[in-house]
Amino acid sequence: MALKHQAPLGTRDLLPAELARWQWAESQARGVLERYGYGEIRTPIFEDYELFARTSGESSDVVTKEMYRFTDLGDRDLALRPEGTASVARAYLERGLGGQARIHRLWYMGPMFRYSRPQKGRFRQFHQIGAEIIGSSAPGADVEMIALFVDLFEAWGFSNLTVAVNSVGTPGTRREYGERLREWLAPVASDLGGDSLQRLISNPLRVLDTKDPRDLELFDKLVRGGAPMPRMLDSLDSESREHWEQVLGGLDALGIAHRTDPGLVRGLDYYTRTAFEVHDPSLGAQSALGGGGRYDGLIEALGGPPTPGVGFSIGLDRTMMVLEQRAAGGPAVPGTIFVAAMEGTRAAAAQLTRELRREFRVDCDLESRAIGAQLKLADRAGATLVLLLGEEEWARGEVVIKSLRDGGQKVVPRAMLLEALRERLK
Ligand code: HAM
Repeated sequence: MALKHQAPLGTRDLLPAELARWQWAESQARGVLERYGYGEIRTPIFEDYELFARTSGESSDVVTKEMYRFTDLGDRDLALRPEGTASVARAYLERGLGGQARIHRLWYMGPMFRYSRPQKGRFRQFHQIGAEIIGSSAPGADVEMIALFVDLFEAWGFSNLTVAVNSVGTPGTRREYGERLREWLAPVASDLGGDSLQRLISNPLRVLDTKDPRDLELFDKLVRGGAPMPRMLDSLDSESREHWEQVLGGLDALGIAHRTDPGLVRGLDYYTRTAFEVHDPSLGAQSALGGGGRYDGLIEALGGPPTPGVGFSIGLDRTMMVLEQRAAGGPAVPGTIFVAAMEGTRAAAAQLTRELRREFRVDCDLESRAIGAQLKLADRAGATLVLLLGEEEWARGEVVIKSLRDGGQKVVPRAMLLEALRERLK
């Protein structure tokens, strides 16, 4: 059968069997975020295009190639959100959160949209869970963020994670570092791919973000020729260096495994100082499970007062792929009861089903099938117990509880039913 409609390229349906794992992961995450004292924020799925263009960076892939930009019927220039941080910063300003408390700890979860080429682990509609601390420039805020980041992964059963960390300094030190990068790349500049060449002019730091194997080979060639790649960490101003050292010290004090990656540049341009990521090599090219960092200039860029911030987002689609590969993190399926009725007890069965559903997971036949067919249905649905509402037993005020695990059955008075079920299913 030729279908008239398919889900758009890069999007997909999540069906109940998959969602069981997603829901488990989401509820684990909510638990961790609540214990850390973060409050949930929900922002619109679309915003003014300019909000993202101004914050993600004019030369970032997100803005130049990946924005779902559209004009609505009122001629407004809008975009589906490619990420959550800009929206949180906008809401922080618009709703005057700065006047209510100095530090805000916020989290969010939901779909994001980027028009990138779909491949394993990369979708056009994907899902993030993210957290932000707005209002503190202290290194302790960066450390708390990274601890929360790691603790979320631990709650999903990841262990031995190593966080890659770097400092991308301030816009001033980045300009200076950009010059050093340009000088370093000058001998091979004419051989760089088109994207990198463009970036060398507009935003040299982004050149380090290239995935083009020929570019990477050119970098290697320079290093082999005795010209080590300049490190941003060597260009830091003294305050950023002090901040960086305190963050590393804080991570050590908490025993959080980390590795300095001097080449780590994030895909969005709003970062200052700390940047971090975790990768899972089993995912191949799209291996970043999540990342984040500090963004001390973002809120000011949106017209607000100078307000520091730090945060991260985790890609749930990729995280779920890893959990699925490991067959980890499925929820414990609660026992299910199947209520099976005879001709004369159908109305009673419907009532009993409704009553039991206040406490238990209960299934029943919707189509007045014969008792044999109902038992098959119960078996196929994976029910643990069947309640047989035989006409004679029901008339006597009794119900038969049949175990589908061992086939054993027991007659219990209706008045004792709830207690008997609690006993059997606990
Ligand atoms: P990001 O690194 O662009 O950061 O995205 C975070 C995570 O989202 C990635 O590590 C990846 O797991 C997932 N992700 C991104 N694009 C896709 C895609 N096309 N398909 C599937 N997963 C994807 C941010 O978005 C920042 N807002 C993080 C942040 C928060 N920084 C400070 N606060």
